[in-house]
Amino acid sequence: MHTAPAKIILFGEHAVVYGQPAIAVPFTALNATADSTPAPHGSGLTIYAPDIQRTIVVTKNKVEDVGDVLAYAAQRALVSLDVPMPDLTLTVRSTIPLASGLGSGAAICTALIRELTAAIGRPLEGDALNALVFETEKIFHGTPSGIDNTVIVMGKPVYFVRGTPPETFHIQSALTFVIADSGIAAPTRESVGDVRKLYEANPALYQTYFDHIGAIARTARTQIERGDVPGIGRLMNENHDLLGTLTVSSPRIDDLVAAARGAGALGAKVSGGGRGGNMIALAEPSRAESVLTAVKAAGAVRGWITTLAAN
Ligand code: PMV
Repeated sequence: MHTAPAKIILFGEHAVVYGQPAIAVPFTALNATADSTPAPHGSGLTIYAPDIQRTIVVTKNKVEDVGDVLAYAAQRALVSLDVPMPDLTLTVRSTIPLASGLGSGAAICTALIRELTAAIGRPLEGDALNALVFETEKIFHGTPSGIDNTVIVMGKPVYFVRGTPPETFHIQSALTFVIADSGIAAPTRESVGDVRKLYEANPALYQTYFDHIGAIARTARTQIERGDVPGIGRLMNENHDLLGTLTVSSPRIDDLVAAARGAGALGAKVSGGGRGGNMIALAEPSRAESVLTAVKAAGAVRGWITTLAAN
């Protein structure tokens, strides 16, 4: 069996598509898994995804159909390794809510490609795996920055700038986050597309927003490295306001953010593509349970407390 974690973006989503830095970390309480069993000779590759009640027969060792992302991921992997279609059944599962800013698409494709390539004796990891998952992200996102596939494949905190090698960084003090699912699925492709339209209508203005978000992400890295926990919280609030200006928050997310802050969170923001999806809040460990209770009372359908360890 192979797995891949969910992820949360701490700073810089959306602006990262335009070349600004962003910070993302794995969220291991949720993950995608893939298992394989040999299939009878000549039966080819079948992908079974019980969570979405899909059985996909991957009939051709060719990249033709971009309509089905799981089949596309498998096809791309086989073509890149230049191997014939294996006789295999792959079963993929995920506990990560779909279209909710937690990287479900990248995680499921990462687990699938890991299992498939290991099963045929040509395991892919690192840059080669990351490049393949990035191709599948284009289907989910349209114009992905590459941050989701990078943090999920690396399984480590990343400071990411599009087109440059990802960096890991020092975390001086452990950080406790409360994550709250608004229960509203919102495809990243749409929010990214809408931000693109706003940018194209007024590039000079939107560039100032992106620059401001980039400056926040850079400062946040320094504060994480120094362990200035209240300062990190303030930057999350500032980042959230700018994401609201980009129109990627939503009334439900704003309610969750207000509830988290009201319960003593040091900072809170939408995370990922937005419009729905998940909110993240930074809290002192002793306050995390109260923040979780408050966001659930404010309408979160699910919530988690997670700690990013010092390193
Ligand atoms: O919604 P998610 O988890 O897929 O995150 C998207 C992050 C964006 O910055 C909005 C898009 C991107 O490709 O970086």
